[in-house]
Amino acid sequence: MISASSESIRKKIEGKTAVVCIVGVGYVGLPNALLFADAGFKVIAADVNERIVALTNKGESHINDPVLNKSVPRVFETGRLKAVRDVSLAASDSDVIIISVPTPAENNEPDLSYIKNSCASVGKGMRKGALVVIESTVYPSVCRTIVKPLLEKESGLECGKDFFLAHCPERLNPGDNEHNVMVTPRVVGGVDMESGLVAKALYESVVDAKIVLLSNADAAELSKLVENTQRDVNIAYINEIALVCEKIGVDVKEVLDACSTKWNFYKTKPSSGVGGHCLPNNPYYILKASQTNGFYPHLIMTARKLNDFMPFHTVELIEKALEDCGKKLKGSRIAILGVAYKENVDDVRQAPSRVIVPELVKKGASVVISDPYVNEVNMQKVHGESAGLDEALNADCAVFLVAHDAFKKIAPSQIKANAI
Ligand SMILES: NC(=O)c1ccc[n+]([C@@H]2O[C@H](COP(=O)([O-])OP(=O)(O)OC[C@H]3O[C@@H](n4cnc5c(N)ncnc54)[C@H](O)[C@@H]3O)[C@@H](O)[C@H]2O)c1
Repeated sequence: MISASSESIRKKIEGKTAVVCIVGVGYVGLPNALLFADAGFKVIAADVNERIVALTNKGESHINDPVLNKSVPRVFETGRLKAVRDVSLAASDSDVIIISVPTPAENNEPDLSYIKNSCASVGKGMRKGALVVIESTVYPSVCRTIVKPLLEKESGLECGKDFFLAHCPERLNPGDNEHNVMVTPRVVGGVDMESGLVAKALYESVVDAKIVLLSNADAAELSKLVENTQRDVNIAYINEIALVCEKIGVDVKEVLDACSTKWNFYKTKPSSGVGGHCLPNNPYYILKASQTNGFYPHLIMTARKLNDFMPFHTVELIEKALEDCGKKLKGSRIAILGVAYKENVDDVRQAPSRVIVPELVKKGASVVISDPYVNEVNMQKVHGESAGLDEALNADCAVFLVAHDAFKKIAPSQIKANAI
């Protein structure tokens, strides 16, 4: 049962008259801004990045994604989406404030500086009656013990009485239009029950999928970490099986295909590592919460180490493949095709390519990188000599690191003769 204190915000959500501010307009914030604008809300997209604000205000997507490239101009045309750099001002004009800023791990330690900075700005501007939702991935207790006191201090308002605060972890999978924000169930947890109920009502007003309300924000915070860490651990297991297969001389693909014929086998492929903003960092968020409470999560940390080893192993495999053909890595021209962290995205954050390319260069190879999905700004972060597909395919060794759809169209005849 929702009490009278939240009546005003609930009415605005119901009538779609609430102004929604999205703080942090990146891979999560941009699709979310479109979701709310599409549902009929007026949306203020607030980001400290000048380029993102300028492009959004021209009706252009700053992310190279086929769906966003079409939907940003379409939604911009409705007049319900505008971008600003001043987060406090945006918060002061808004009824709902959704925070989706980065939560990286620096030296394996959660870095909450973006959360703290954005919440300080929001707190300075937010008005009585607002709902604040943290969508960034954080560890259990962050909303309750860091975000809440910070918002209260900056705003002079009291949580649960003057404003509402909840966590709703984003479960979006970039590059995957099938499991989009509209159809994926959302998990919500409030720092108090009233906040959880208001946040549930908010998401029910925009998505078709089920909204799962948990008893508190801590549980919602942990749920996201558990989902992502399960993937990291499962990938590590399959990567380890690939290493075992190499040693005993068995074809890992044949083995995994056979295993996959059983209904309960977790199907995934060995990889050159695990990248992106989430999977390599989230286990350290579990570590933080767990260690603070006196427990070291051994399995999770072992999996992390194994996945971190895979880019180095990929370099070993390249070196061995060349040697098997009587060539040396030193002096060879190696093409790395696909520098994004996974297929069909432009994101290079913590991508295996960012370890593999410098390792190859260190060992004396001449490396050329090519990725039709990644823009020049992101290509530069990989520190390789960037080239078009045709030039890259003319190297001594072509390494397809990522299964982009565009690569599946390459015919073997396009690859240089006698290349590996
Ligand atoms: N990328 C994903 O696939 C994904 C999926 C689920 C959850 N998440 C989580 O969502 C959060 C955001 O991830 P992302 O990939 O969208 O990050 P991102 O880097 O793409 O976007 C974050 C944006 O926040 C902006 N920003 C930083 N500090 C700010 C501040 N003080 N005020 C306003 N804007 C600020 C940055 O300029 C940037 O544009 C993270 O916690 C991440 O773990 C990401």
